[in-house]
Amino acid sequence: MKPRILVAEDEAPIRDGIVAAFTDAGYEVVAASSGREAIDRLQEQTFDLVISDYRMPEKDGLEVLNHARGQNEDAVVIVMTAYGTVEHAVEVMRAGAYDYLQKPFKVEDLEFKVAKALEHVRLRDQVRYLEDRIGVEVDHGMVGSSRLMKEIWETVRKVAPSNAAVLIQGETGTGKELVAQAIHNNSDRRKAAFVKMNCAALPEGLLESELFGHEKGSFTGADRRHTGRFELASGGTLFLDEISNMSPGIQAKILRAIQEQEFERVGGTQTVHVDVRLVAATNGDLDAAIQRGTFREDLYYRLNVVNIVMPTLRARKEDIEPLATHFIAIYARELKKDVKGLSPEALRVLYRYNWPGNVRELQNTMERAVLMAESQQIRAEDISTLGRQSAIAGKDAMPVHLPPQGMDLEEIEKMVLLEALTMSNWVQKEAAALLNISSRAMNYKVKKFSITHPTWKKNRAPEEDAGGAHGPIYDGLATRITNR
Ligand SMILES: Nc1ncnc2c1ncn2[C@@H]1O[C@H](COP(=O)(O)OP(=O)(O)OP(=O)(O)O)[C@@H](O)[C@H]1O
Ligand SMILES: [Mg+2]
Repeated sequence: MKPRILVAEDEAPIRDGIVAAFTDAGYEVVAASSGREAIDRLQEQTFDLVISDYRMPEKDGLEVLNHARGQNEDAVVIVMTAYGTVEHAVEVMRAGAYDYLQKPFKVEDLEFKVAKALEHVRLRDQVRYLEDRIGVEVDHGMVGSSRLMKEIWETVRKVAPSNAAVLIQGETGTGKELVAQAIHNNSDRRKAAFVKMNCAALPEGLLESELFGHEKGSFTGADRRHTGRFELASGGTLFLDEISNMSPGIQAKILRAIQEQEFERVGGTQTVHVDVRLVAATNGDLDAAIQRGTFREDLYYRLNVVNIVMPTLRARKEDIEPLATHFIAIYARELKKDVKGLSPEALRVLYRYNWPGNVRELQNTMERAVLMAESQQIRAEDISTLGRQSAIAGKDAMPVHLPPQGMDLEEIEKMVLLEALTMSNWVQKEAAALLNISSRAMNYKVKKFSITHPTWKKNRAPEEDAGGAHGPIYDGLATRITNR
């Protein structure tokens, strides 16, 4: 749409010149030859911008300005004042004019000021739009009304406005990052940056310079100064993700940065002061890391002023349907397919599954299902690969993560077997189907790893029971698979 401009000027040659120039430049221009007429036009329609002469018969430019701003506080008005009447310029600026221009002027000067003013309006509207949208996302972007999720929202709402550090723990895909963002969006810091750093993604040296920045020449390849995330997040929130495996050196530096709110850039001597709120997350077991001595206890207490533990999806199955519907709507729009919901059988499949990859796995599953769907409803067939594909659907959805020191393949096999068995309620045949092996192969492996379960007792020959000496190791192991 063309920007609409009102031009109020009693001297016809000047008025016509302005109207012609702006009409040529692609604006929609309405002219008024007096202040009175300008006010009449303002009452009839809205304008993106008003250009008004100061000295006019009947009503002067100040009155036009006051009228425009009285109608709409955001009205952008540029006033033309006579040469040597500085007091008029001061007066109109005080009254809320966006700018003024002294006569005589070149029409290009006016065009420049108008372009600048309209850009200002555009940016202002955009900021408002984004602020509104952030507000909307806080309320509606996260789906789930189970008791467990309500408790999470309650905590988020309570702790967001403070500056307290928050530690978010939970399995992969449970929504830790979304909660971190929600905390930021609900805090007074929402207008400043939400800066994220994945602490597991980089080796120590790079991580340090990403977090704290570096000075030019501090190491080979550092050809200019680099601003670190702590500095970028100043005034806002720094989200440290996957913190459980950070090196001792980095832990010490982060601890100081949190305690003192200051640090030095790599290769620098100048102390940088910041004002940063910390939110950290991990799907690792920090207690165990503290026990092992690989995670500093003092840092843990600094980060863990408020603790949020994200519930797994299997612990809040009532959220499955609303989440699935939410994702179907998103992917139907994205993939331009007319898919609206789930068949009752498909929903049953979703309920039966135990979601080791939590909400992210459900999201991926719904994306594939919408892609596969041939009718308005997703059928059980569309999600028949559930659980199998997630293991190969990429790193994020991979239920087994290798620890850095590596792992025995047999141990992994055993964990996967246990996971499959817990998922299928210890029905071997179903577990075998999950792993795409025969029941006989499953039976063989169960014996090989001496896996047992109380519910198997009654179906078993006495001699087989002798192998069942491992007691309740399975539950812990099976859940730990997804926690790595
Ligand atoms: N309550 C929710 N409503 C809507 N979408 C959600 C919800 N929870 C999680 N998601 C979506 O699931 C995906 C995973 O969420 P998120 O990245 O926050 O998980 P995470 O706990 O940080 O996982 P990881 O430990 O693997 O980093 C994201 O795409 C996110 O948008
Ligand atoms: Mg995450």
